[in-house]
Amino acid sequence: MNLFTLISLLVIWIQTAIAATSSPQALFSIGIDDVPLEVLQSGVLDNTAIFGYAFETGIDSLAIPWNSLTHLILAFLRVDVSGNATVSSSSIQGVIDTAHKNNVKVLASVGGSGDGSTNMASALSTNATQANLAASLTKIISEYDLDGVDYDFEFPDNTQQVNSLYAGLLAMRSALNSKFGKGNKTLTMTLYSTNGRFGPNVPQVNAKPFSDLVDYGLLMSYDYFGSFSSISAPNAPFYDVPGYPGLSFTSSISAWLSAGWAPEKLVAGLPYYGRTAIVQTNSTSTSQFMPNSGAAPPGGPVSKISGAWTWVDLRDPSDGALSAPSQAQTGWSRNWDNTTMTPWLLHDVSSTYIGYDDTASLTIKANHIIASGLAGAMVWMVPYDYQDELAAVMQSYTESCSRISKEAIQSLAESSDSSVDEESGDGINGHGSMDGSSQDYDSAIEQGIDGRSSAAAVYNGQLALSWLSTLVAMACLLISHL
Ligand SMILES: *[C@@H]1O[C@H](CO)[C@@H](O)[C@H](O)[C@H]1NC(C)=O
Ligand SMILES: *[C@@H]1O[C@H](CO)[C@@H](O)[C@H](O)[C@H]1NC(C)=O
Ligand SMILES: *[C@@H]1O[C@H](CO)[C@@H](O)[C@H](O)[C@H]1NC(C)=O
Ligand SMILES: *[C@@H]1O[C@H](CO)[C@@H](O)[C@H](O)[C@H]1NC(C)=O
Ligand SMILES: *[C@@H]1O[C@H](CO)[C@@H](O)[C@H](O)[C@H]1NC(C)=O
Repeated sequence: MNLFTLISLLVIWIQTAIAATSSPQALFSIGIDDVPLEVLQSGVLDNTAIFGYAFETGIDSLAIPWNSLTHLILAFLRVDVSGNATVSSSSIQGVIDTAHKNNVKVLASVGGSGDGSTNMASALSTNATQANLAASLTKIISEYDLDGVDYDFEFPDNTQQVNSLYAGLLAMRSALNSKFGKGNKTLTMTLYSTNGRFGPNVPQVNAKPFSDLVDYGLLMSYDYFGSFSSISAPNAPFYDVPGYPGLSFTSSISAWLSAGWAPEKLVAGLPYYGRTAIVQTNSTSTSQFMPNSGAAPPGGPVSKISGAWTWVDLRDPSDGALSAPSQAQTGWSRNWDNTTMTPWLLHDVSSTYIGYDDTASLTIKANHIIASGLAGAMVWMVPYDYQDELAAVMQSYTESCSRISKEAIQSLAESSDSSVDEESGDGINGHGSMDGSSQDYDSAIEQGIDGRSSAAAVYNGQLALSWLSTLVAMACLLISHL
C-alpha cells in the first residue's frame, strides 16, 4: 500500500465519520407541503426562537449547548414583597458574556413556582411596587448587560391579579423603553398550560392585550398528569388523553390562540423530563392508563426530584431506565402510545410508571410548532439533557425551519417570476429583514441572521468539506494508480 492509497483511505474514513455525525434532517420529515401558505408567507420560520431555562445558581456555561438556543433564561431572580429583585449567583456575568459570544440572548426570570410567585403577587399588587419591581429589574439588566426579562407569575388567582399582572408588565415595558429604547430589550411572560387561562382558578379573559404588550408568551405545556393524577398518563401528551379533554400540547396551543394570543408570539414548551406514578397493574395491562396506587413514586436516581425523572435520570447508565434513547434498561419495559404520541416506561417489580418525552415525541411536537406558525419552542430545562441528545432535536428543528423557509422563498420567487410582478412586494419578509428574493435569503444566511443559521452554516461547511475531501480522495487514488 503506498502513501497515496493510505491518504485516500484516510480521507474516505473521515468522510464516513462526518456523514455519521451530521444528519440534521434525519428526524424531521416535515416539508413545505405540510405548512400552510400563510405560515410560509409570515416569515416566522426565519426567526424561530428557542428559549432554554436554566437555574441561575450552579449554571455552567461550558455545559450549555449554545447552538440549540436563541435565548437562555436564568431562573429565578429573588424578588421581595416590595418588588426589589436580586441576583443570587456570583457567576452569571461569565455565562452572559459567553452567551453573547455565541449569539444567544440572556433573559432573567422572576417568579416561578412557590415562594418566588408569592412575593411576585405582592410586588404586583400596587402601582408603587409594580414600578419598584420594574426599576429594580431595569437596574440589573443594565448592570449585567442582560437582554430582557421574563415574568413567570404562577399563578394569578383572581381577575384582579390578572389585571395587576398586566399593569406590572406595562410598567416593565415602559421602564425598558425609556431606559434602553423601544425594541432593544425583550419582555416575555409564561402562560399556564390549560384552557387559555392565566391560572387554574381564573376565568378566561381576552389574551390579546397581553400578546400585544410582550414579545413572547412561553406556554408551559407540561405537568398535565403525574403522581397527583388518578391515572397514569403522560406528563405532556401531544393529543388529549381519552376522557380528559383539553389537557395536551395541541389543545393548549389551540386554546391560547382562540383566547387571542398571536401565533407569531406564542412559544410552546417542551419538557426535558417525565413524571412518575406507582400504578396498580397486572400482567394483562397493555395500556399506559392505569389506576394510580397513590404511593409516593421514587425520584430520579441523579436529580432526586420528587415525582419527576429528568432525561439525565432516565439515561443514567447504572440506575436509569433507558440504555439508549428508545431502549429500556433491564427491569423496565419501554412502550410507545399512539393516542398521546409519547413513550412510557413501566418497571416490572416496583410498578413505577414514567410518562415522558424523548427525541421522537419532541420531534412530533416541534413539527407541530412549525406547521402552526408559532414563534418557537421553550425548553424546561437545559441542564436536564443527557449528552445533548435532546438539544440535537432542537438543532434539527431549527434547520428544518430554515430549509422549509428557503424552499418557500424559492418557490414563491419562481411563481412570481412567471406571474404579475406587483405581488413580489408582499412576499415573505422575514420580519422585515428580507424582501423575499432567494438571493437576499442566501446573503442573509451567510451573515447569520440573529445567530440561528449557525447550525445550518456548520452543516453547509461539513458538506463543503465533504466535497473537498472527495476531490482529494479521487486525486490521490488517481495518482496512486499512475
Ligand atoms: C426596596 O427598594 C426601594 C427603592 O430602591 C427601597 O427604598 C427599599 O428600602 C427597598 N426595600 C427593601 C425591603 O429592601
Ligand atoms: C394604579 O394607578 C391607576 C391610575 O394610574 C389606577 O387606576 C389603579 O387603580 C392603580 N392600581 C393600583 C393597584 O393601585
Ligand atoms: C437601541 O440601542 C442602540 C444601541 O445602544 C441605540 O443606538 C438605539 O438608539 C436604541 N434604539 C432606540 C429606539 O432607542
Ligand atoms: C388488569 O388491568 C386492567 C387495566 O388496568 C384492568 O382493566 C383489569 O380489570 C385488571 N384485571 C385484573 C384481574 O385485575
Ligand atoms: C402506531 O402507529 C405506527 C405508525 O402508524 C404503527 O406502525 C404502529 O403499529 C402503531 N402502534 C400501535 C400500538 O398501534
